[in-house]
Amino acid sequence: TLGAGTQAHSQAFPDKPVALVVPFAAGGPTDVVARMIAIPMGKALGQTVLVENTVGAGGTIAATRVARATPNGYTIFIHHMGMATAPALYKKLTFDPLKDFEYIGQVVDVPMTLLARKDFPAANFSELQTYLKANASKVSLANAGLGAVSHLCGLLFMSQMGVELNTIPYKGTGPAMNDLLGGQVDLLCDQTTQTVPLIKDGRVKVYGVTSLNRLSALPNVPTLNEQGLKGFEVKVWHGMYAPKGTPAPVLEKLNAALKVAMQDPMVKQRLADLSSDIPPMDKISAAGLKTHLEAEIIKWGPVIKKAGVYAD
Ligand code: MLT
Repeated sequence: TLGAGTQAHSQAFPDKPVALVVPFAAGGPTDVVARMIAIPMGKALGQTVLVENTVGAGGTIAATRVARATPNGYTIFIHHMGMATAPALYKKLTFDPLKDFEYIGQVVDVPMTLLARKDFPAANFSELQTYLKANASKVSLANAGLGAVSHLCGLLFMSQMGVELNTIPYKGTGPAMNDLLGGQVDLLCDQTTQTVPLIKDGRVKVYGVTSLNRLSALPNVPTLNEQGLKGFEVKVWHGMYAPKGTPAPVLEKLNAALKVAMQDPMVKQRLADLSSDIPPMDKISAAGLKTHLEAEIIKWGPVIKKAGVYAD
């Protein structure tokens, strides 16, 4: 019967490599996390987990691809809170985060940093404030497209500062960072999973972190909150998904592999070095992710509507 066949398939899973779709460009923060956990996940599954970057439209192109993929466990997806903001940001969304996916678990929570190109003419946050008030129209702010967290962080920053900068969209903050390092763009708000090594090497200027407390990885960098942007807080949560209809035994294997990866000593050390938090084990579950996603959709919908930002 079909049922027995599906069961046999589920037992054999995985007997070929698993594609882990990343919705942003290679080299960026989501890609860093995906490649970090792909190796121990693959070991746990006994098959290679191959990272595939499907870029564009703030992650929604990749989400659509995964929503339409064969639900057999061989296509899975990692995405951040853009999964919760997309329904409010995109009027013609081609997937439904609550109907088209199965949930594997939450992955990691990552703070952000506000950066400038190295030779940007503001030595610290107070100089930045003065400079932006006088030169807003001349200053460029990179992001990874509508719905990217770099975009949300930028919106929050501009709104609290009361300035309007020239926002420049990229297909990920990997390429945005390349342009920041090359001096082609002025400012970028990006996750510590990409930025900590560059800050430590002095390759970019840093004005603050988006957590309410300072980060252990960057103890000398003040928070934006302590420098006057009261309550400024952005922490980026990530989740792992599969297409709707992926068999339960397959999802259980993927969840078990994700849990193994999140307890891998190398992964734990690397994420700690980047001041990124591994969620409690009970959140690395289908229910943990789904509950969080639902709450986040409810939280962000009205905020985005009020801000009036969306794609037609
Ligand atoms: C990336 O991986 O490029 C970033 O997560 C994009 C973003 O800012 O959302």
